[in-house]
Formats: sequence, C-alpha cells, structure tokens
Amino acid sequence: MTDVGRHPRITLYTLSEVVDVKGYVGNFDVRILKKARYVNEKECTACGECAKVCPVVRPDEFNLGLSSRRAIFSPFPQAVPSAYVINIAECLGHNPVVCAKCVEACDKGCINFHMSDEEIVETVGSIVVATGLEVYDPTEMDEYGYTRFPNVVTSLEFERLINAGGPTGGEVLRPTDRKPPRSIGFVQCVGSRSAKRGGSYCSNICCMNTVKSTLMLKEHYPGVDIKVFYIDIRAFGKGFEDLYTRSRRLGVHYLRGLPGTVAEGPDRGLIVSVENTATGKLETHHLDMLVLALGMKPASSTQRLQEMLGLQLTPDGFFLEAHPKLQPVDAATRGVFYAGCAESPKDIKESVTQASAAAARAIRLMHKGEITTEPITSMVVAEACKSCGKCAEVCPYNAISVDVKRKTPAVVNTAACAGCGTCAAECPFDAIVMNHFTDDQILHQVHALLEEDSKEKVLAFACNWCSYAGADFAGVSRLQYPPNVRIIRTMCSGRVDEKFVWEGFRMGAPVILVSGCHIGDCHYIDANHWTEKRVAKIHKKMAKLGIRPERLQLEWISAAEGVRFAEVMKRMEALREQVSFDEIAETVRILTE
Ligand code: FES
Repeated sequence: MTDVGRHPRITLYTLSEVVDVKGYVGNFDVRILKKARYVNEKECTACGECAKVCPVVRPDEFNLGLSSRRAIFSPFPQAVPSAYVINIAECLGHNPVVCAKCVEACDKGCINFHMSDEEIVETVGSIVVATGLEVYDPTEMDEYGYTRFPNVVTSLEFERLINAGGPTGGEVLRPTDRKPPRSIGFVQCVGSRSAKRGGSYCSNICCMNTVKSTLMLKEHYPGVDIKVFYIDIRAFGKGFEDLYTRSRRLGVHYLRGLPGTVAEGPDRGLIVSVENTATGKLETHHLDMLVLALGMKPASSTQRLQEMLGLQLTPDGFFLEAHPKLQPVDAATRGVFYAGCAESPKDIKESVTQASAAAARAIRLMHKGEITTEPITSMVVAEACKSCGKCAEVCPYNAISVDVKRKTPAVVNTAACAGCGTCAAECPFDAIVMNHFTDDQILHQVHALLEEDSKEKVLAFACNWCSYAGADFAGVSRLQYPPNVRIIRTMCSGRVDEKFVWEGFRMGAPVILVSGCHIGDCHYIDANHWTEKRVAKIHKKMAKLGIRPERLQLEWISAAEGVRFAEVMKRMEALREQVSFDEIAETVRILTE
C-alpha cells in the first residue's frame, strides 16, 4: 500500500467512492466522490497531537469496538496516506466556539473545516474490481450466544486480540475479567455451508484461519486447552495440511460436530453442548472463551458496481468471471477484471495471484494503445430503424444508443458490442444486422437442413459457448444420440429470432429445440433471459394458432454436459415421433396461409 501511495504513476483516491461508470473498454469515464478529510493530507505528519486533545471518544472500527478512538483519528496503523481524518458527524469543532482543540494543537495548521466533498472524473482504459468481502453477522445464530455472552467473540475480534498491534498488545484476554483464558473453543462454518443462514458455499479461509489461530495460541500460551468444533477441515492449499498436523500434534483437540447450544456458567464461562458425530455421543464442554469462525459474504458495494459496469453475479452474490477456466480474472464486460475476494472468498496467496493476473491482463490490453474487436458485431440499417429503443433495452453491454425523442437511428458502439445478437432478434423492424449471423444466413441454413425429409428431423439451435460445446463434448465422449438432429450454431441463444422458429415449422420441422447456457451462465451477461421471454411468447402464439407448444422446446445445456445433451436429443427424438404427418401438414398450412 505504501509503495502504491508513493508510485509516481498511480493516483490513489482514499475516502472515495465510485458513483458512476460510463463508457467501454479503453474509454471508461469513472465518476468518483472524494469525501472531505478536513485535514490537509500533504502537510499532516500523523504526529497525533490533535487526537490527544480531542474530547470525543468513539469505538474504534478497525479494532471492532474493542478499543476507542477520537473524532480525529488515523484509521489504522500504516494507513496510506499517513494523515489523520476527522469524522465530521462526530466532531464538535466545525463550530470553533464549541471546541477547535485540534486546531490549536496542530502546529502545522493542517485542519481545515472548510473542506468539502469533491467530485472527480477519471478516464481510464480498463478497470480492476477489487472490492473485497465482508464477514457474516452471527447475531441471528442465537444458539451460539454471541449477543448474550461477552466471552463469545468472532474470529475477526479474536484476530485483533491476538495481534501485537491490537487493543491488548497481542495478549488474549477474556472480555469479562481481562484474564488469559485457560480453555478456548472454535466453532467452524458460522454462516458458511448453510442454505438457511449465511451462504451455502464454503468460505474457503476459515479452517486455515482457525488452524493458524490455534498455532499462535499454543505459541503464546502452551498450556491453553483448545477445542475446534468442525464439520470437516479443508486444508487443501500448499503446506496447509502440515499446519493442520502441527496443530493436532501440539494438542489441539479437533472435534467433529457443531455445537447445538451454548450457555453461560456461574464464572461467566461457557457450557457448550455438542453431538460428536465421530463417536455418536452427546458431549458437554466447559470453556472460558468461544470463537466463532465467521463465513464470508460479498461486499455491500457489489450490487451497485454490478449495475454500473454491467457485470454478472453468481447465485452467491460474488462477481462471475467470463469463463471459470479460460478467463478466470476477466469480467464478461471487456476491459473489466477481478482481483481477490470480489470474485469469491480466497486467501492472501490466491488474492495476490489473481491480482497479479488481473494487472497483467489489464496491461496487456492497454499497452497496445488500440484494441482489436471481433467482427461479430451488430450493425444498424439506418433507413429501417424507427428509433423504438428496443435494441438498446435488450443490449447487455449498453453498446447501443438511441435517441427515442429525437427519433434518430440507433448507433452501435462496436468496441462495446460483444456480438450476442439479442438486438437483432428483438428488433421489430429488422433494422439490425448481426454480422456473420445475419437473418439470411441463418434462414438459409434452416432451408438447407429441412428441404429434404423435414419430417424426420429434429432442428436444434445451439449457442456457441455452452450447448454447441456440449454437443462437441457428447461427440468426443462417444455418446450416442439420434443421428437426425440438425444443429444450427448461434453465438448466443439470444440470437434465435422468432422468425427462425416459424420458418422451421413452416418448412415442416416436427419439433424445434432452442438451447443455450444455463440461466446465470450466459456468456453475454443475461442475454438468455431474453431467449426465455421470447420462447414463452412464441409458445403463446403457437397455442393461439392451434400448434402444440410442446413442439418448441427450450433447454439449458452447459459445455460440460455432454451426457445431458445426448439425453435431451433422445427426448427430442421421442417427441418428434409423437408428431403425426397430419399435424405437420396442418402447421405448414397455417403458417403458409
Ligand atoms: Fe449461451 Fe448466451 S452464450 S445462452
């Protein structure tokens, strides 16, 4: 952090918040709200004289309320810049008659109550999202007594207690009597791996954090009795198993099972009842202190950033990478990268690795000075465009602008367009051409595939990234599926225009399949949501026309689901066999008239 603060080519905005991002790769305009510090950060030497005279005492957020700070304070040791800050909501001194003690104490005259928040706009070429995460709030898990018993602390509070720079100078003291505890218990997976409370995912770092804490405790207090209550210990990183073994060798007792209840004893000690799932017995443990190993959750700013940058989130609420294996640090929006726990919970080593990769990806993109875009982008036919704005509404990348009031034709920013084709499929006036996947090209494929023996065929539209790759996977896995399936590849299922489906039926297709990535996995952010809506619309129209809606199927098949692809194709074939010649003929008649 200090190096970053000193670097001549890095501008560090502290006390700042990103309020808006506009633009696209190479040309992002980022609006930043820089909050007033009320202390001149260039002059302040962090001597601390101001804080000594400040009469306002508040809990120190950095030490999680285990110590106090003043209204003028340094957020944490080694904070960059090394300057104090005033919390103006707490300060009495903005009216100097009331206080102004810090102003008097500061020789250099750094304090300035006339400072105000300022808005800054920066133009940048790429963005790395590194917003970190937050810890789970265990107050809802009442059985552990976090809000009722002072000697139940969280893993983060324990971390501050055992830290040499913490409120007790590294001495672990019981909050109730400020004496070193003789026995400590750790409860794992608090707010992790639970569908009901916290997240259903593994928070990745809690097991090893507990193992580290037990080692530190044994180093400081060899006689302390330590018990760890766990579901299973996940020590899969380099050297982690050794640490776990060392902890066990030092006498830490790992007990499989999570406590059912925690009660307080007469000496403010804790009585922990747990079912030991290794022995099948109910046990009671008397402990001086209990530490809850908290799970992780996405940072509160995630949702807002997701909206600003047009990013995707996983069902757990973390940012979703463009591809889990091939683009693990890239966002689906070009020019945006992820580092650290914004993407998923990870430890320091993994975070540093990912941050280095993200920086390298951003540099690789920027150093050329220009970027090459894929030729698969949309193009507006200005004469046909009625400026209805539908294309701009459905574009997941905000790559299309249209002035609906002035009725000027839509404009596609080809640098931002990723080529899903949803705009072309949704345009009611056929005013958008999707290069390399034009209506004509796809309709010709439909004709070519169905011109002979159409009644014997299953027509399938498959998106390039998932379903088509799933078909490939089924092929290389030597899986059997009906040979009469005819696949048309589109970049995204969002490209499958209603008219392709009608043309397929008009050409005598008994059944048609539209397939794409699972919802949430679409490579074009959320383009397949539009596929879903469109297919539902077609189903309604089919029912009105007297065509059985089951003849049009929508399936989500991922690249790894070769088996599923084969099964879906078998199901489609079974469906095809149920469609009679008369039914097909009647459909053709309805659609031709
Ligand atoms: Fe597969 Fe969008 S890329 S459905």
